[in-house]
Amino acid sequence: MPQVTVTRLLRFNAAHRVHNPALSDEENIRLFGKCNNPNWHGHNYTLEVSVTGEPDSITGYVVDLGVVKKIVEREYVDLVDHKNFNLDVPFMAGVNPTTENIIVACWRRLEPALKPAQLTHLRLWETENNYVDYEGR
Ligand code: NI
Repeated sequence: MPQVTVTRLLRFNAAHRVHNPALSDEENIRLFGKCNNPNWHGHNYTLEVSVTGEPDSITGYVVDLGVVKKIVEREYVDLVDHKNFNLDVPFMAGVNPTTENIIVACWRRLEPALKPAQLTHLRLWETENNYVDYEGR
């Protein structure tokens, strides 16, 4: 049977400071530059959520993307939108909020919440030029 991947985009904005407290201030500035700014800065994030499966014989859908949207909003976007990743998001406590670490934490929330739909790919855009991909490995 054909396996088809369908994707829903969701947008949110959030503040963060990329900082490793185990390193000196000088080392943090050297490694993270402007993203180490002590008084935070924000990004307009775009999250792509992809689910893979066989199209249903009756609906022709792999999954209803409206349902995917609702689950992703409830389990993720509503918890991070207009928030500070360092201060306001319990499941990011103690995590340096690089895009890499943000997407792994996002996967851990969405993968169980989307079942029985099978999450197969996340892409998180931090800027127009930078994105990261994660497939749960
Ligand atoms: Ni940043």
